[in-house]
Amino acid sequence: MIKNIAIIGAGQMGVGIAQVCALANYQVQVVDVSEVQLLQAQSSVAKNLERLIAKGTLDPIAKEKALKNIAFSQKIQNLQSIDLVIEAIIESLKLKIQLLKSLDQLLPDATIVASNTSSLSITDLANATKRPDRVIGVHFMNPAPLMPLVEVIRGDHTSDSTYRIVEDMVASLRKTVVHSKDSPGFIVNRILMPMINEAIYVVHDGIAIPKDVDTAMRLGTNQPMGPLELADFIGLDTCLSIMRVLHQGLKSDKYQPCPLLVHYVTIGRLGKKVGQGFYEYIPLSDDFPGFWPPI
Ligand code: NAI
Repeated sequence: MIKNIAIIGAGQMGVGIAQVCALANYQVQVVDVSEVQLLQAQSSVAKNLERLIAKGTLDPIAKEKALKNIAFSQKIQNLQSIDLVIEAIIESLKLKIQLLKSLDQLLPDATIVASNTSSLSITDLANATKRPDRVIGVHFMNPAPLMPLVEVIRGDHTSDSTYRIVEDMVASLRKTVVHSKDSPGFIVNRILMPMINEAIYVVHDGIAIPKDVDTAMRLGTNQPMGPLELADFIGLDTCLSIMRVLHQGLKSDKYQPCPLLVHYVTIGRLGKKVGQGFYEYIPLSDDFPGFWPPI
């Protein structure tokens, strides 16, 4: 039975997952190596809950309770009595393995370790630990508080009991679970990322500008967001990492990342989180960190 959850990585996904878990009455400890990121995370959760109150979907008492359910820290060494860890650090196999190795030494044997990875092999992550039966993929969609889907991925060694416990916990967040085999990009990103990559090729090849690509896909295929707006929202570094995992893992050149995507990541145009990607974003105040949609 899960009561205490640790979320490692207080970026856009970690914050959203922490908010959802705290609202569902889990005790949540959020850890990030960056103090700035932790301060932003704290402020984002409070603002997001305020917005739910303004919309009439949350009452102020539930907000205070949810805020009391979350603690923030810079050190995984401060984690206490954790039943489930959800790691949501950047999409790098090397860094995730490093983190999982450290967590493995600190956490009680019974603790389940879940990864929010968008594309990486759960079996590879599990093999870095001494608890491969208690490692699993739990892939929330962005933004986690709004999106109803979670992909749950079993690695080669994930036990039935780990799967059941995690499936029940995700259901308690009122999310719909789909099961995917442990294959690069799972279901959603195996389909979504090649589409985003192709949209980037359309810009790279001079066929259309980003605004027209997005308008074409929104109005022509009834998508709520165009692929380039979505790429900016996800983070271009994350998109590139996922394309590389698809390219290497599925061994086909049809997954070759577009050179324009590689270029943008190289020069630090990572999308909305840094204020620049396919579009430019207006910075907000210190009081409300982040950036507004395209100008
Ligand atoms: P992000 O770049 O917004 O945040 C990553 C955070 O991890 C940063 O705050 C960074 O300081 C922190 N971090 C890095 N190394 C750390 C460590 N060793 N210990 C603690 N904190 C550390 O990334 P984002 O977008 O939140 O993605 C996180 C994970 O979620 C990735 O695996 C990504 O593939 C996955 N994901 C991302 C989605 C998206 O739309 N951005 C959607 C679903 C999953």
